[in-house]
Amino acid sequence: MKLVFYGAGNMAHAIFTGIVNSNVIDSNDIYLTNRSNEVALKEYADELGVNYSYDDKALLKDADYVFLGTKPYDFDELADRIKPYIVENNKFISIMAGLPISYIREKLDFDSPVARIMPNTNAHVGHSVTGISFSNNFGAKSKEEVDSLINAFGSAIEVSEDNLHQVTAITGSGPAFLYHVFEQYVTAGTRLGLEKAQVEESIRNLIIGTSKMIERSELSMEQLRKNITSKGGTTQAGLNALSQHDLESVFEDCLKAAVNRSVELSNQDDE
Ligand SMILES: NC(=O)c1ccc[n+]([C@@H]2O[C@H](COP(=O)([O-])OP(=O)(O)OC[C@H]3O[C@@H](n4cnc5c(N)ncnc54)[C@H](OP(=O)(O)O)[C@@H]3O)[C@@H](O)[C@H]2O)c1
Repeated sequence: MKLVFYGAGNMAHAIFTGIVNSNVIDSNDIYLTNRSNEVALKEYADELGVNYSYDDKALLKDADYVFLGTKPYDFDELADRIKPYIVENNKFISIMAGLPISYIREKLDFDSPVARIMPNTNAHVGHSVTGISFSNNFGAKSKEEVDSLINAFGSAIEVSEDNLHQVTAITGSGPAFLYHVFEQYVTAGTRLGLEKAQVEESIRNLIIGTSKMIERSELSMEQLRKNITSKGGTTQAGLNALSQHDLESVFEDCLKAAVNRSVELSNQDDE
């Protein structure tokens, strides 16, 4: 199976590194290209054993999956560049936020199967939660192949294209929301009188440890919480204080705002 990456920036780098490291595809079958930064391509080729080229005809001739990894506003230029060379076997995987499948197919001017994926930044550590939706002409075997590519840098969740907005909010932007919560936790911890550096280091390890507990335990998060909350104890006292604030509606507002913005951005691209 031959993979081609159009765009080898921040997110594409996390994806092809994950794919190479998981050995789902031989690095020799992975090809990178970008607009002009050949130094970056050479670096990745040296580091990972992948290939790079600016010969679009040769890149696309026998490519099975073509990742579209430019910024959304650079896609029209990319589509003009590649459309003369698209062949029937090419299936496209867009990582570009907000661009609808219909728009991508129109610009490519070819009835190619197109998948849209919404990864998150945790792809850098092989833990992206990636939303995916497929065009109607994406075959079952090809879907399975895409699924295995996505599992190389985390996990996949298939949703309708409309629901990618929700995925964008919950897991696409999710790492930033959680970082923000952790920042507040550090600030509040510092106010208790310990040194900031000490608090930061402790909370960093607290978050890592708690994530590992979630990963390794069969129990729900609710049960994990209950297991460490004794009646009348310190944890119960803290949780009682927390429940005086409507955290659920705080997060509901946050996620709704992100969904609305995602819808707005994709409508702008339609105009
Ligand atoms: N970063 C995230 O957390 C994240 C999360 C989800 C989705 N995304 C999506 O991922 C996409 C890429 O984001 P990024 O942060 O990785 O961007 P980036 O680091 O700026 O990389 C953009 C890449 O596109 C290349 N490029 C631009 N125009 C091109 C053209 N005409 N032909 C071929 N290659 C071209 C650039 O090449 P040169 O370097 O040569 O200019 C560069 O390799 C965006 O559409 C974004 O919506 C990002």
